[in-house]
Amino acid sequence: MNAIRFRLNGARLEEGLIPPSTTVLDYIRDHLHLTGTKEGCAEGDCGACTVAILKPGSTRWEAVNSCIMLVPQLDGCAIRTVEGVSGRGPLHPVQKALAEGDGTQCGFCTPGFVMSLFAVHQNGEPTDTETIHDVLAGNLCRCTGYRPIVDACKAATAQSWVEIGDSAVEKGRTNYRRDGHYFIAPSDLPALIAALAENPGARLVGGATDLG
Ligand code: FES
Ligand code: FES
Repeated sequence: MNAIRFRLNGARLEEGLIPPSTTVLDYIRDHLHLTGTKEGCAEGDCGACTVAILKPGSTRWEAVNSCIMLVPQLDGCAIRTVEGVSGRGPLHPVQKALAEGDGTQCGFCTPGFVMSLFAVHQNGEPTDTETIHDVLAGNLCRCTGYRPIVDACKAATAQSWVEIGDSAVEKGRTNYRRDGHYFIAPSDLPALIAALAENPGARLVGGATDLG
């Protein structure tokens, strides 16, 4: 096949020798020896093989099943496997939340959960319980320990946002809107307070908010 170029865990790779019918799962496990990504069903049902992908031109990370994705589809993408979430550095916030919240049992499914949570965390959007259930719908845990995993997702994402209720932040701060409510990162609070001072009609609805 023609050479394809992509980034894997931050490193540029070029691949031209792999048969195009090779799945991304087989490629990363058997050719790159990154065995943190697991094979469960091998047909897109269990999520054990989940990796995070940033497609060309997109700014949103997606969690995908690498067992049903073929290597040529990686062309131009950035792909992150569980080995690249924190490298040799400190635990990523989603790993820390899973560890501290007892979100793992046998651990076979854990790399897939980490990658689904990693993708949603990278996108920087607040998540409520319903959204978290959607995010994790493709990941099966045969130990059925879902509650601590859902709690870990809340801990790693939702609590880092502050809910506000007026349009003052639309003036250009980092913000996110859902169902008519606005959310802002804590680091932007000083700018928000200044914006509120300029807009007497605006009001701050809440403090740090658990969106669940
Ligand atoms: Fe089950 Fe890929 S191994 S979805
Ligand atoms: Fe998920 Fe056991 S911890 S299958």
